[in-house]
Amino acid sequence: MVSADLIVSGCGQLVTCRGPAPKRKQALQDLGVIERGCIASHNGEIVFVGSDADCTQRIRLEPDGVTLDAAGLLGLPGLVDPHTHLPFGGSRENEFRLRIQGATYRELAAQGMGIQSTVDATRSISLPELVDLCLKRLDSMLAHGTTTVEAKSGYGLNLEDEIKQLEALREADLRHPIDIIKTFLGAHEVPREYKARKEAYIDLLIHAILPEVKANNLAEFFDVFCEEGVYSIDESRQLIRAAKKAGLKIKLHADEFVPLGGAQLAVQEGAVSAEHLIAITDQGIEEMAQSPSTAILLPGVPFFLMQDKKAPARRLVDAGAVVALATDFNPGSSMTESQMFILQLAVFTLHMSLEEAIHAVTLNAAYGIDRHTEVGSLEVGKKMDMVLCDAPNYAYLVYHFGINPVVHVIKNGKIVIRHRQRNNPQ
Ligand code: NIG
Ligand code: FE
Repeated sequence: MVSADLIVSGCGQLVTCRGPAPKRKQALQDLGVIERGCIASHNGEIVFVGSDADCTQRIRLEPDGVTLDAAGLLGLPGLVDPHTHLPFGGSRENEFRLRIQGATYRELAAQGMGIQSTVDATRSISLPELVDLCLKRLDSMLAHGTTTVEAKSGYGLNLEDEIKQLEALREADLRHPIDIIKTFLGAHEVPREYKARKEAYIDLLIHAILPEVKANNLAEFFDVFCEEGVYSIDESRQLIRAAKKAGLKIKLHADEFVPLGGAQLAVQEGAVSAEHLIAITDQGIEEMAQSPSTAILLPGVPFFLMQDKKAPARRLVDAGAVVALATDFNPGSSMTESQMFILQLAVFTLHMSLEEAIHAVTLNAAYGIDRHTEVGSLEVGKKMDMVLCDAPNYAYLVYHFGINPVVHVIKNGKIVIRHRQRNNPQ
């Protein structure tokens, strides 16, 4: 017999998304579904995944252990959101109103709105205020089934405020059940005060802010907004090389609006992921398909920017790329905390199959932040991070759209949302 301190029994369908990770092409069709499944954990680690009948035979619940009767709900791995801009001040509904009237995101950015306005708002608030904002947004993510999130700085754009954003993430990570993977995105924009001397800002990033981030262990990843009018391919390469030298892993905002070849740069530099890719070239698709880098697609962005052009998800999957999905949660181009909604958008707007899209918010999303040995699937030895949804089968997660199907959430073996209510520590 194996000891457990948590047993979740009676799942209608248990969608395990079992590996090996990452999944490409045909492997994406198998979600590892167990009908009438049961799952058990001990000290936050999964010790059993199988049928209710086998569980009774093989698992012994410790005297103070907990049983959760899933009562026919659908179980799936806690969702992983591998690209967000969580720590920001202010909001941009005024810019949104102008966009509804026909202005474009890039026009407004050129007029000083866009990222720069969020930089002003983020600089003007204190660290505790920023932590509170992060915690509130993390609550919303958790309620929609996210249990692991990647989060970027990039609205400070100076030493003090980039560090403030990363410290806010460190503090929020300690205080909230969701695990936060931290990314330093000091190269998100060229700050207003450096517009005429971009090289001086690149110098500041490389010689002042990056060493401080590294010395205080404030980020695991480094990211650059590689885009026309922001950082060119050569500038991005220079920044990436400095970050790699400092021991950070690489992510890249690549080929969002203009096909600069950011995907190829990501592959050449061994980036863990290339993200956005709406304007990726044929060559970029081919290179991503042959590489271990994850293509992280963000369908919330063209939806929110009311833009017809979408990332070529079908072509990427068919070519054999590792495809994941993320919210890109930010106040300018994708104001949603719901990775569940992104799953729906991927099926409705990117022509991904249900199975491809579910893997893209779980196992492949975990791979895209280098956490696939810990989370992203329900398998023995992984973290007990799971979501129980009011859905008779996994098609319902998308079929019944625009609602939140999440009823219970388990993080690290603890029931953190029970019957849609936040459960404070057991
Ligand atoms: O990922 N593309 C660059 N950065 C964000 C948008 C940030 C903003 O508008 O505040 C993105 O879409
Ligand atoms: Fe982004």
